[in-house]
Amino acid sequence: MAGSDNLSDPSSPFIPGLDFETYLEWMRAVHPGVAARVSRQKYEIARAHGVYADGVGDIAFEDHAVGGRGEAYRTTQLANPLIRSRGIETLYQMAIAGQSVGADALLLDALGGNGTVARAISALHAGSDTPLVITADISAAMIKSAITLGLPTIRQSAAYPLFVDESMDAVIFAYGTHHIPVFQRELAMVAARHALKPGGRIVVQDFEIGTPTASWYHEVLDSYTETTHPYIHFTRDGMVNLLDRAGFVDIELHDVYDPCIARADSPGAAKIRVLSYLVDLFALKLPRGNDLDLASWADAEEVVAPYARFVDGPACLEAEEFGVGPVEGGYQAEYPRVALVATGVRPL
Ligand SMILES: C[S@@+](CC[C@H](N)C(=O)[O-])C[C@H]1O[C@@H](n2cnc3c(N)ncnc32)[C@H](O)[C@@H]1O
Repeated sequence: MAGSDNLSDPSSPFIPGLDFETYLEWMRAVHPGVAARVSRQKYEIARAHGVYADGVGDIAFEDHAVGGRGEAYRTTQLANPLIRSRGIETLYQMAIAGQSVGADALLLDALGGNGTVARAISALHAGSDTPLVITADISAAMIKSAITLGLPTIRQSAAYPLFVDESMDAVIFAYGTHHIPVFQRELAMVAARHALKPGGRIVVQDFEIGTPTASWYHEVLDSYTETTHPYIHFTRDGMVNLLDRAGFVDIELHDVYDPCIARADSPGAAKIRVLSYLVDLFALKLPRGNDLDLASWADAEEVVAPYARFVDGPACLEAEEFGVGPVEGGYQAEYPRVALVATGVRPL
């Protein structure tokens, strides 16, 4: 299926162009261990709850033609696969802590988009055994993109996952937990607990209300995108209580350094890589500069830089504002962000 045009049934509710049975056949051929854990019955239940009805899902990640900024997100993420890898690696280590990480282990990336986390983990750990990362997402456009990249993937809602109970070694919710409607968050966490094997770990990443990183979304995305950003981030207690109510144990809360980092052979070029990433990823209506002249990005920098400025921030911070410095072989620009991450364990 990867790279093929076998998306032939435009009326399929599962993914326009790919019906559920054809998807299962493909998955059986390329990742039989994943296919064996997908439940037809759960698919029918999810459909009955309207998960696959037209217009469901987050419009922000659909195509521009229907009011989203999904193409921009996918293209920019594909062009900059490792720019957020620092935070992704920390989440990965939290997910596998204390577990066997053989290639037969399964890690569900519940808000996976078009596979950013899966691709980063595979690049960072090339040549060593890692769990198979399953990219799940409610957006058909995201999942079609992940399929064409050849990733093990599934279109599902975090609240109505299609995997049989006790099938996953770890589940990650990252870079989008605030997109799950508040009324569905507990349902999604309970569903994740069911999907996990006893002793399996959950990692939930988002941004703490009131921090510069969370304010970025409310202030910059609200003012400079067509989609705006009507989502609610997390408080520290709120995140812990969510996992507690969902039945997890050994819950821990962490501040995690989660910067955007880019390298280039000049300080200006390194900064431009970060600025253009931020403007393009979120399709910000800000003047885009050119690739050779940092001064042409001054207006964009004036808007984005304040959200990387931390005063008395948490100890995890390694930089307190957007800056650039020499590294071996060139220059590194770093845009600090801090994520709030809760981990928990499915009781035995
Ligand atoms: C900000 S993107 C992050 C994608 C990817 N993790 C990354 O870092 O590039 C958030 C993703 O969550 C998905 N999403 C939002 N609500 C969801 C839900 N209830 N169930 C599954 N996916 C959802 C969106 O479609 C979107 O692709």
